[in-house]
Amino acid sequence: MRLLVTGGAGYVGSVVAAQLVEAGHEVTVLDDLSTGHQDAVPEGARFVQKSITEAHSVLDGMDAVLHFAAKSLVGESVAKPGLYWSNNLGGTLALLDAMRDKGVGRIVFSSTAATYGEPERSPIEEGDPTRPTNPYGASKLAVDTALTAFARVRGLGAVSLRYFNVAGAHGRYRERHAVETHLIPNVLKVATGERESVSVFGTDYPTPDGTCVRDYIHVSDLARAHLLALEAIVQGEHRIYNLGSGTGFSVQEVISVCREVTGHEIPAVVGDRRPGDPAVLVASSAKIQSELGWKAERAALREIVSDAWAALSANA
Ligand code: UFG
Repeated sequence: MRLLVTGGAGYVGSVVAAQLVEAGHEVTVLDDLSTGHQDAVPEGARFVQKSITEAHSVLDGMDAVLHFAAKSLVGESVAKPGLYWSNNLGGTLALLDAMRDKGVGRIVFSSTAATYGEPERSPIEEGDPTRPTNPYGASKLAVDTALTAFARVRGLGAVSLRYFNVAGAHGRYRERHAVETHLIPNVLKVATGERESVSVFGTDYPTPDGTCVRDYIHVSDLARAHLLALEAIVQGEHRIYNLGSGTGFSVQEVISVCREVTGHEIPAVVGDRRPGDPAVLVASSAKIQSELGWKAERAALREIVSDAWAALSANA
């Protein structure tokens, strides 16, 4: 297929672009490099440095779009909501209009667990209430809502994948954020000597060890789901799937595994809770398992951390 991957110079987008090239698809990456890295665009993909609001020029002849380009920092979204609404919702609406104009009727969208907000039960299922607690989650939920409407009135075929905590590396493709807020890369930066210690944001949560529990999913497993989603698109339908490995690990457990994998003592300093963090976020991925046959193959936290560490050490 001829495919447009927006945000294909970013962490998840670059891994999906690499897997699509490996699978024999003709891939164009559209990325404005505001947070992505040009050297993350896989060999064999065409690269166009443009914003998603300028997608018209690259949509001719495309069979589908995989849409990753977005702002994705929860904290930043609280401080700068306008940036998130204009980029994530406004930018996506412009992309969807350009797709309609060019007759491109299929999209896989990068959605998030942040659309659910504070969950009422665990694991979270797709039909559970969506009450995002920050503009990042709200902007992604608004896109999901628009996709449902466009499937109905425009015949668009769409699949939204709601990611839980993406981690690990796919070969050389790894997480490289200028401002790093995610747990695993921050812990590993202590082992490389880039940071002196890691902060543990709260130890008084109602969890077994008092620290927050998250569902970490290997980026290779996550990316593979996009290829299945692409094949499963049906015109006029919008499907939503959670993507996690179904097992929760606490912040303390993550730090312990990072210590084992790196052999570094990794000092941890207990700090205050980070505002807006739910105690437990674990996905039920039963729907994507039964409907698309997807299953996490690298669910072991040790493997996720080992792959992240290997890619980070190779680049250090
Ligand atoms: N944490 C620390 N210290 C750190 C970084 C994180 O203790 O230095 C804790 C957080 O408080 C949280 C856990 O580690 O309890 C995981 O935090 P991350 O920032 O790695 O991930 P989040 O669970 O906050 O965020 C993820 C995605 C977001 C998405 C969100 C849904 O990365 O894109 O889930 O709530 F919005």
